[in-house]
Amino acid sequence: MARPFFVTTPIYYVNDVPHIGHAYTTVTADALARWHRLLGEDVTFLTGTDEHGLKVQRAAEENNVAPQSWADQTAQRYIDTWELLDISYDDFIRTTEDRHRISVQKFLEACKANGDIELRTYEGLYSVADEAYVTEEEVAELERLGRPVITMREENYFFLLSKYEQPLLDWYEANPDAVAPASKRNEALGFIKQGLQDFSISRTSIDWGVPIPWDDGHVTYVWFDALINYVTAAGYGTDEESFEHLWPGRHMLGKDILRFHCVFWPAMLMSAGIDPPTNLNVHGYLLVGGEKMSKTRLNHIAPAELVDDFGVDGFRYHFLRDQAFGPDGEFSYEGMVARHNADLANNFGNLLSRVSTVVAKKCNGVGPAPRADSPLAPIAAAAVERAIYAWDRVAPSEALDAAWSIIRETNSLLETSEPWKAEPGPEVDGVLGDAIEALRIVSILAHPAIPSATRESWRRIGLSGDIADCRVPDDVRWGLYPGDLEVEKGAPLFPRLKL
Ligand code: MSP
Repeated sequence: MARPFFVTTPIYYVNDVPHIGHAYTTVTADALARWHRLLGEDVTFLTGTDEHGLKVQRAAEENNVAPQSWADQTAQRYIDTWELLDISYDDFIRTTEDRHRISVQKFLEACKANGDIELRTYEGLYSVADEAYVTEEEVAELERLGRPVITMREENYFFLLSKYEQPLLDWYEANPDAVAPASKRNEALGFIKQGLQDFSISRTSIDWGVPIPWDDGHVTYVWFDALINYVTAAGYGTDEESFEHLWPGRHMLGKDILRFHCVFWPAMLMSAGIDPPTNLNVHGYLLVGGEKMSKTRLNHIAPAELVDDFGVDGFRYHFLRDQAFGPDGEFSYEGMVARHNADLANNFGNLLSRVSTVVAKKCNGVGPAPRADSPLAPIAAAAVERAIYAWDRVAPSEALDAAWSIIRETNSLLETSEPWKAEPGPEVDGVLGDAIEALRIVSILAHPAIPSATRESWRRIGLSGDIADCRVPDDVRWGLYPGDLEVEKGAPLFPRLKL
C-alpha cells in the first residue's frame, strides 16, 4: 500500500471573506498535495471551515437567521474560492458536521478520563473577535484595532495545560524538527518556558457549539473544538482504521495561530492519548502596504480580483514562487506583474512557443527525440534533485526555481545553437529534441504549481495521458520523450501583462 500523506490547512472562520492570505496557505498545501501525488503517495488533503463560537452566533442573530444557515451561506464562499483556484482537496471539514461532534465528544471524554479537565468559575476580559480571553495589557491595542473587549463571568471547564509544561518541553527535545522553521519552534518553546496556564474550554453564555458530553449546559470553546478537526477528518471517533492509517499528518499554518497549534494542541493530543504530529509548517504573513490583511483595515484582496488579471495558474505561481514559505512577505501588484512577465510569459511560455515554431519550420511539426548525451541532461538531473529536496522541506519557491533553471539553460542552448537559422538535419533535430525533453520534464516539475498550463504544454508537445499520472523520479529521467510526435503551435500560454 502506498505511503499515506495527510496534509491540512487551518480551517477558516466562516465569518471572514476569503482573501489572498487564506489562499496563500491553501495554494501551498494544494501544491504540496499534488507533488506528493506525483511521488506516488496516498494523499489526503484536508481543508475546511471553523463554524462555531460567539462571532458566528452573533453574526447570525444580526442577520436574523439560524446559525447553521448563516454558516452554510458563508462556508460556501470558501468552497467557491477553492474551486476557482483549482484546489484539489480530498476532504472539506465543517465543524458543524456530525462526525466532528462525535469526535470532539470522544476527545473530551478521553481528556477527562485522564484527569485533565476541571470545573471552575472564571471571570475575565474576552475579545469576541479573537474568541479568546485577553489580559488587561492587551485591551488598549485590541480596542485600537476595533476588536471590542467584554467582561465574561462563567462557570467553565478548564483544560489543565499547566500539567503539560514538562511533557511539552520533553516532546520538543525529542522532536527537534516538529515545528519548522526553527525560529517558529523557538517561539513556541519560549512561550512554554514562560510557564503555562490552564485554559477554559467551555462556555455557558452561548449555545452555538459542541455540547460538553457530560454537562450539556456547556458548549466546547471554539478553539478546542477547531483544533480537533484534524483528528476528526482522519477518522477519530468514526473510522479508527482510517485514523490509524492517516495519523499523524503534516499541518500548514500561519504564525498568527502558532501558539494554538504548537503549544495547546500537542498538549491536548497527549492528554487524549494521541501522538502529536511532528510536521508543523508555520509561515509568515502576506502583508499589504506593510500590514496584515484584516476586515477592520479594509485592505483585503480577494483572489478573484487577481485571477481576472493573471489567470488561475498565474495566481498560484505567484504565491508559490514569489513568497518564500516561512518569513513575512510584502504583496505588490507591480511585483506580481514583473514575476508573471519574467517567469511565465518570457521564460516558460516563450520557450514553448519558440520550440513549437521552429519544430514547425524545420521538422515539419514533428518533435524529434532528445540526445542521450545532451548538455541539458545533467542540468535536468540536478534540477530534479533540488526540486525533490525543496518540496521535502516545504520550500515551493526553491522547487520552482530549480524547474526554471532548466528553462533558462534550454533558452541559452537555443540562443547559442540558433536552430532557426540552420539547415534541417540531425544537428537541428538534436537541439530541438533536447528542448522538448526539457519542456516535458519542466511540465512535470511545475505541474503542482500550474496544473492547467502544464496539462496544455504536455498536450502541445504531443504527449498523451494525464500528466498528473506521471511519477517522480521515474518519469523525470532524461530521455523519455519518444520523438515522432506532433507538436502544436498555439496561442501564448501566458500573455505578457502591462501595468
Ligand atoms: N479558525 C482559525 C483556525 C483554526 S485551525 C484549527 C483561524 N481562521 S482564519 O480564517 O483566521 O485563518 C487563519 C489562517 O489564514 C492563518 O493561519 C493563515 O494560514 C491564513 N492567513 C490569514 N491571513 C493571512 C495573511 N495575511 N498572510 C498569510 N496567511 C494568512 O485562525
